[in-house]
Amino acid sequence: MVAYGDADAVAAAITDDTAAVLIEPIQGEGGVIIPPDGYLRRIREICDEKNALFIADEIQSGLGRVGETFACDREGVVPDLYLLGKALGGGILPVSAVVGNSDVLGVIQPGEHGSTFGGNPLAAAVGLRVVEMLETGEVQERARALGEHLAASLDALIGHGVTAVRIAGLWAGVDIDPALGTGREIAEKLLERGVLVKDTHGQTIRIAPPIVVRATELDWAVEQLRLVLGR
Ligand SMILES: Cc1ncc(COP(=O)(O)O)c(C=O)c1O
Repeated sequence: MVAYGDADAVAAAITDDTAAVLIEPIQGEGGVIIPPDGYLRRIREICDEKNALFIADEIQSGLGRVGETFACDREGVVPDLYLLGKALGGGILPVSAVVGNSDVLGVIQPGEHGSTFGGNPLAAAVGLRVVEMLETGEVQERARALGEHLAASLDALIGHGVTAVRIAGLWAGVDIDPALGTGREIAEKLLERGVLVKDTHGQTIRIAPPIVVRATELDWAVEQLRLVLGR
């Protein structure tokens, strides 16, 4: 484990025994932490130089959420493996996947890796449909446009109960002024008003609405946050 966003620290931590570098291209549980520009490109270069695999955990950030198919696309970077989940099940089935080219994944032959639920036909059908839906780019564009809309209304709360906002597409980390309560307390008050957000065990709440959400619904949700903050 090294400090997030510090590519030099990653390079320094790699030894001859290092098989892979595993990172979230944007951290989710951490509070929607967006790394400095160029970080993902540097990780790609370091992995190439050191002959280590670059594994991108896109379980939260992937599949349209940030306005691109993958958060790695924001820097035009292709990792060796993607870890996918959550949205891959279309919000209705538990589906996760490790995705990569055959030069990496080909080391596992059919039948060599067993799993109770792996390859479940219904789950696989839903996962395939999600992949098809991403092919037109419409979902990504929607996340991008609605994310700009959400960013504008959240930014207006900075200095009014909110100390910082980090946003990528339709995914926001909102830092709450400690004087008004913890992220958990604010999340519970929002729940009473019908808005589900997730806290980070600190001062941050994460807003990750379904990408089919409407702009008017986002406005309503931000209004609930404003009321909870007493502003
Ligand atoms: C970014 C990220 N990586 C990995 C995981 C774990 O995935 P799984 O529950 O499929 O093991 C989660 C689960 O919440 C996650 O958010």
